[in-house]
Amino acid sequence: MINAILIERDPPPYRASLTKIDESQLSAGDVTVRVEYSTLNYKDALAITGKAPVVRQFPMVPGIDFAGTVEHSSNPSYKSGDKVLLNGWGVGESHWGGLSQLARIKADWLIPLPAALTARQAMAVGTAGYTAMLSVMALERHGIRPGDGEILVTGAAGGVGSVAVALLSKLGFRVAAMTGRPAESEFLKQLGAAEILDRAPFAGAGKPLAKERWAGAIDVVGSHTLANVCASLRYGGVVAACGLAGGMDFPATVAPFILRGITLAGIDSVMRPRPDRVEAWRRLSKDLEVKKLELLADEISLAEALERAGSLLEGRVRGRIIVDVNR
Ligand SMILES: NC(=O)c1ccc[n+]([C@@H]2O[C@H](COP(=O)([O-])OP(=O)(O)OC[C@H]3O[C@@H](n4cnc5c(N)ncnc54)[C@H](OP(=O)(O)O)[C@@H]3O)[C@@H](O)[C@H]2O)c1
Repeated sequence: MINAILIERDPPPYRASLTKIDESQLSAGDVTVRVEYSTLNYKDALAITGKAPVVRQFPMVPGIDFAGTVEHSSNPSYKSGDKVLLNGWGVGESHWGGLSQLARIKADWLIPLPAALTARQAMAVGTAGYTAMLSVMALERHGIRPGDGEILVTGAAGGVGSVAVALLSKLGFRVAAMTGRPAESEFLKQLGAAEILDRAPFAGAGKPLAKERWAGAIDVVGSHTLANVCASLRYGGVVAACGLAGGMDFPATVAPFILRGITLAGIDSVMRPRPDRVEAWRRLSKDLEVKKLELLADEISLAEALERAGSLLEGRVRGRIIVDVNR
C-alpha cells in the first residue's frame, strides 16, 4: 500500500483526503515511477478544493507533475533507475497523478530529468515554472530581445510569475513585476525585478489604447488585466497569455492589434509537443539560477498539500510549493 491524495465524489460530497491505495489501483501505463517530489499547482488546488471541474474521472489522484525514479518499465525507452519527470497530458485530471508515492504512466509522456537538476529542483520549477519557460520562449520566437525594452510579468509573486521574473532577469531583460502584494516587493527584487507595479490599476476596464510601455509581457491573470496589458504594449510588442487567475474573459478591443501590430501568443503546457518540452527543460536547467530556485520554493508534506490548496487559490502562496510525497 502507498500513500496518496484521493479525490472522491461518488457518493457526494466532493472530497479530497490523504489515504492508502494499492499499486494495482493505479491508472494503466507502461512505466511505474517511484515519485520523489510533486508540487501544488493552481490546477491541483482547483482539483483538491473542487472549485473548478478539472477532475474528469473519479476517484482521482491529483498532481499534474512529478519527478522520480523509474521502478518498472515495459517500454524500451526507460529502464529501472532512470530519473524522469512529467508535466501535464491530463495527468491529475483524467489519469492518476503525482500526489502519490507511485505513479503509473505512459512512457511517451515522460521526459528524462535534465542532468543538471535534482528531482527536488525540477519540482521547485514544476508545471508553473515550465509554463513560465514556454512563455519566455514564445517572446523569443516572436523576436523580443533584451534591448527592445521592459518586460511586464503579471501575478508576479505566484508560481508562474516568480519563475518568469527569475528567468527573464537572468536572460538580461529589465523586468517590471506586477503584484497585488506590496509586501512581496523585496522577494520580487531578489528574483531580479527592476520595478514593482501595483496590480489594482490594471484590474478594471481600461482604454482601448494606453501609453506604450512594454516590449513584451507574460500574463497569468487574464480578463481586464490582459486587455490593459495589450493596450499598453509598445508598437510590435508581444504578450504570452498563459493564465486566468483573475478571470477567463478577455474584454479587449482590436485597437492594439491593428494600430500597433501587437501579438497575443497563447501558451498551453498540457498538450505541448515533446520537442518543446525537452527544449523548455533544457533551457530551465541552464537559465534558472539555483539560488533563486531555493528562494522561490517552499516544501510541504502530502497532508499539508490538502491544507494549502485553498490559500493558493486565494493568491496567498508565494512562489512555488514542492510536495515531498514521502513524508
Ligand atoms: N497555460 C498553461 O498551460 C498553464 C500552466 C500553469 C498555470 N497556468 C495558469 O496560470 C495561472 C497562474 O498559475 P500559478 O501557478 O502561477 O498560480 P499562483 O501561484 O496562484 O499565482 C497566481 C498569481 O496571480 C495573481 N492573482 C491571483 N488572483 C488574482 C486576481 N483576482 N487578479 C489579479 N491577479 C491575481 C497573484 O499574484 P500577485 O499576488 O503577485 O498579484 C497570484 O499569486 C493560473 O490561472 C493557472 O491556471 C496555465
